[in-house]
Amino acid sequence: TRTQVAIIGGGPSGLLLSQLLDLNGIDSIVIERKSREYVLGRIRAGVLEAGSVKLLQDAGVGERMAREGQTHDGVELSWHDERLHIDLKALTGTPVTVYGQTEITHDLYDAREARGGQVIHEAEVQRIEGAETDSPVVVYQKDGQEHRIECRFVAGCDGFHGPARKAIPDTHRKEFIREYPFGWLGMLSRTPPATEELIYATHDRGFALCSMRSDEISRYYVQVPLTEKVEDWSPDRFWDELKRRIPADVAANLVTDGEVLEMSIAPLRSFVSEPMRYGSLFLAGDAAHIVPPTGAKGLNLAIGDVYYLHRALEQAIKNNNTAGIDGYSDTALSRVWKCERFSWWMTSILHDFPDQGDFEKRMQRAEFEYLARSETARKSLAENYVGLPY
Ligand code: FAD
Ligand code: DHB
Repeated sequence: TRTQVAIIGGGPSGLLLSQLLDLNGIDSIVIERKSREYVLGRIRAGVLEAGSVKLLQDAGVGERMAREGQTHDGVELSWHDERLHIDLKALTGTPVTVYGQTEITHDLYDAREARGGQVIHEAEVQRIEGAETDSPVVVYQKDGQEHRIECRFVAGCDGFHGPARKAIPDTHRKEFIREYPFGWLGMLSRTPPATEELIYATHDRGFALCSMRSDEISRYYVQVPLTEKVEDWSPDRFWDELKRRIPADVAANLVTDGEVLEMSIAPLRSFVSEPMRYGSLFLAGDAAHIVPPTGAKGLNLAIGDVYYLHRALEQAIKNNNTAGIDGYSDTALSRVWKCERFSWWMTSILHDFPDQGDFEKRMQRAEFEYLARSETARKSLAENYVGLPY
């Protein structure tokens, strides 16, 4: 088989890239290890920057998002019972949109299907041959058989554990890693959200986050040690812990008698692999970088990469101009590192670190008071939260 761009991974980055390329007359094949149902069963990100919303609209998948997504003009931080409103809209002119990654992926699958796009499921990429040449080959396994796709470019949109990043020789690659000594235990439930806005809650017992997917579906997280197992968390235990960490008035009104739809634990890490290009291979999304979820940046960063990458590939394929692909890694990484910084900072000021001394605790308190008293401080947080420009 032959195509112009072979895309490894049918998550949000891979699907969005294939859709944007297709709209510009470039053909691609998406190879995804799991089934469509499995990919759609993953509950992940929920907050979209305006730039992400715009790119999804441009890709022709904005219709249901416009109908069902929620516009949020602000978010809240809390410190025990103290609450601090961050008016994103007033501070930056821009709101954010709450619309789940699951729904975006769903809309993208529908759009690819409607345009006759090729997505091969339950197909595991084994290796990339000739990544450094102009005629790479992606080799995958499906139904016990090996298949080959010849192409001009390969997009590694295969997430943190995928093979694309590892196809870049160690001699050409540098990794930057910070692991945090805790994870987030998340719960999706059929209950109305605790408040209209998201609450990022700091507490001596650990961080908690109140989020949502709709007026009927809530998404909550509590910080847990890495040793915790999801099996040890009954819904009641989760609700009790959440209530202790969020402001008392919010806890008092929390609706907990609804179906639990999902619970899972995710570790927190910061990770960047440089560069994001090797010959004809380009990395996008979690394949190249991971942020801790505190700043709601993971999915937005993936969409940002796809913005740069689709333009670069179009320029190279249609105009024979390599400026975009030559600059892709530097351009993408410059934005990636700023989002890494913001996500690391939000994580640092809001969580309980097990080895934290009294000094660090006072630093966190000072950050909260500074944000409460300084519009400049709030503006900096808001500017990053709503998304830095492309
Ligand atoms: P992915 O969504 O990981 O997609 C990669 C795809 O590649 C997968 O479908 C995978 O099956 C496929 N693949 C892997 N290997 C192969 C192979 N060999 N062959 C073929 N296909 C392959 N972000 C937030 O902003 N907020 C959150 O609350 C949040 N929670 C998260 C929870 C978890 C458990 C994880 C892992 C991430 C979370 N994120 C969150 C981050 C966000 O979901 C990611 O940034 C986003 O999914 C990145 O999209 P992607 O398409 O780059 O990667
Ligand atoms: C959600 C996840 C986040 O990491 C975040 O910062 C905000 C919201 C969510 O899943 O709704």
